[in-house]
Amino acid sequence: MVKYLRYNLYNHWKKRKEYVVDDDEDSYFHSFGSICGNSGYSNKKPNPKLLYFIFLSIISCTLILAPQILSSNSTFSLLYPFGVDDEGLGSETDGNAFLCSSVPNGTICCDRSSIRSDICIMKGDVRTHSASSSIFLYRNNGLNDFVLAPSNDESDELEVIQHEKIKPYSRKWETSVMDTIDELNLNVKGKESSIHYGCDVQHNVPAVFFSTGGYTGNLYHEFNDGILPLFITSWHLNKKVVFVILEYHNWWIMKYGDILSQLSDFPAIDFSGDKRIHCFPEAIVGLRIHDELTVDSSLMEGNKTIRDFRDLLDRAYWPRIRGLIREEEEGEAQSNMEKSALSPSSNNLIETIKEKQESNRPKLVIVSRNGSRAITNEELLVKMAEDIGFVVEILRPQRTTELAKTYRVLNSSDVMIGVHGAAMTHFLFMKPSSVFIQVIPLGTDWAADTYYGEPAVKFGLRYIGYKILPKESSLYDDYDKNDPILIDPQSVNDKGWEFTKKIYLDRQTVRLNLGRFQKRLLRVYYYSIAQKKKSLHGQSL
Ligand SMILES: *[C@@H]1O[C@H](CO)[C@@H](O)[C@H](O)[C@H]1NC(C)=O
Ligand SMILES: *[C@@H]1O[C@H](CO)[C@@H](O)[C@H](O)[C@H]1NC(C)=O
Ligand SMILES: *[C@@H]1O[C@H](CO)[C@@H](O)[C@H](O)[C@H]1NC(C)=O
Ligand SMILES: *[C@@H]1O[C@H](CO)[C@@H](O)[C@H](O)[C@H]1NC(C)=O
Repeated sequence: MVKYLRYNLYNHWKKRKEYVVDDDEDSYFHSFGSICGNSGYSNKKPNPKLLYFIFLSIISCTLILAPQILSSNSTFSLLYPFGVDDEGLGSETDGNAFLCSSVPNGTICCDRSSIRSDICIMKGDVRTHSASSSIFLYRNNGLNDFVLAPSNDESDELEVIQHEKIKPYSRKWETSVMDTIDELNLNVKGKESSIHYGCDVQHNVPAVFFSTGGYTGNLYHEFNDGILPLFITSWHLNKKVVFVILEYHNWWIMKYGDILSQLSDFPAIDFSGDKRIHCFPEAIVGLRIHDELTVDSSLMEGNKTIRDFRDLLDRAYWPRIRGLIREEEEGEAQSNMEKSALSPSSNNLIETIKEKQESNRPKLVIVSRNGSRAITNEELLVKMAEDIGFVVEILRPQRTTELAKTYRVLNSSDVMIGVHGAAMTHFLFMKPSSVFIQVIPLGTDWAADTYYGEPAVKFGLRYIGYKILPKESSLYDDYDKNDPILIDPQSVNDKGWEFTKKIYLDRQTVRLNLGRFQKRLLRVYYYSIAQKKKSLHGQSL
């Protein structure tokens, strides 16, 4: 396990304090959990004036932004002092009028107003140069050139007319992880210097540059900081875009190939592995991001929503799922032929009747964890759900599980149950209007709501956060009944992320109080039956 030196942003500013924390699938806990004043992990309130000052100081395109700073001042949210709801912080509140939405040919425009990510746009004669981690933009050195342009000298460096640096990853406030992200140099140079770098590959469509380093490897981060921002940043290009990836991984391309092919018609480029010079008419460097696992339609051209993203997933996975269905049908036909050859009876009829009954029952999926935050009486939960009338399937997603297969299971389900953790990201695979029950272990309330509960509601799911009682936690066996760990998790979280992680995330399992849980499950059952009737009715009309 890699150890990162992570900064708690809030404390970093206020106290310059550092923490060492294991890189964990729940890394975001630390990062946001302790930043946000209203978090379950901390009730410290960041000083809004201080934040506002910092907000001002990180804006680079100040001239363009100036009017918007004033107008967004009023929306500067004290409810979410930081990070969680950052639209109020950025310039992006102003409808779809993005900063840098019109960039003159031959210039770079950087929007550094978001607390989560920077994005730079370069228009004109764009060329990659991976050996120097650079992207060059060449322009004619006319008389109207910037005064900044130094007189031509023997040194290449001196020809740079405009220079920007950017790390194309959307966790800008987390110094520790950003330290692991490759930095790109963006340089505007005079046309005459372009002879040094001829194009090896000429592309006629824009490029989008981003990194699949950082927390990539964790499903929550892969969607939250990768796939969703990629959708937000590139969908409007209508697949006429080339993705250029820093910290490129083959496995990532394989895992997300279905989705990538819905966003781009071209193969992705490994920025540091491909030494050729790629030329583009435009480069978008970095990804825009809105909020946790969501798309804010007010910030999207054409009002795209998270539902449009889900539709994209459906299109992405359909070819593979259709293939799987065909394989199964062929296999079945084969075995039926063999069966009927052996005993030409009414077996087939009985089987189809059985299948029909199954398909009328609502389907419940348990996204199961192993080890910490497992449900230790999962078998009894399964039995109870079956007794209520659900068809139950257990999903144990691994890092290598094919996403199309997981999508297929969840897209055909009515209810998803899981204990808080990165695998809850799979709620994105559920049909909107189905039900998501998140079991919330002690001490994880804030993160469970912020990272999955609220996004699930925005997505359209019926969401139930099932907060366990102390008795349902394995910690109940380890501590005195009156220990703050059981009765006041907030006070433990306030002590710092190390405590949250060690006590609540790594060492807690859940033993559901089935009587208590059953009440929810019954309600959900009747809801699902009603939904099924509604959709059957809809079909027959
Ligand atoms: C932008 O600049 C590039 C290179 O300088 C040039 O080839 C291209 O025609 C220009 N595009 C427009 C729209 O002016
Ligand atoms: C987007 O929504 C706004 C406000 O709801 C509406 O005025 C506008 O017409 C919508 N645009 C599109 C393309 O649907
Ligand atoms: C998901 O489910 C819907 C409705 O049941 C179905 O129409 C759609 O084809 C499914 N998508 C995939 C990719 O299987
Ligand atoms: C749970 O994890 C243990 C060890 O990590 C492993 O041996 C076991 O097979 C896992 N069980 C399941 C059901 O994945």
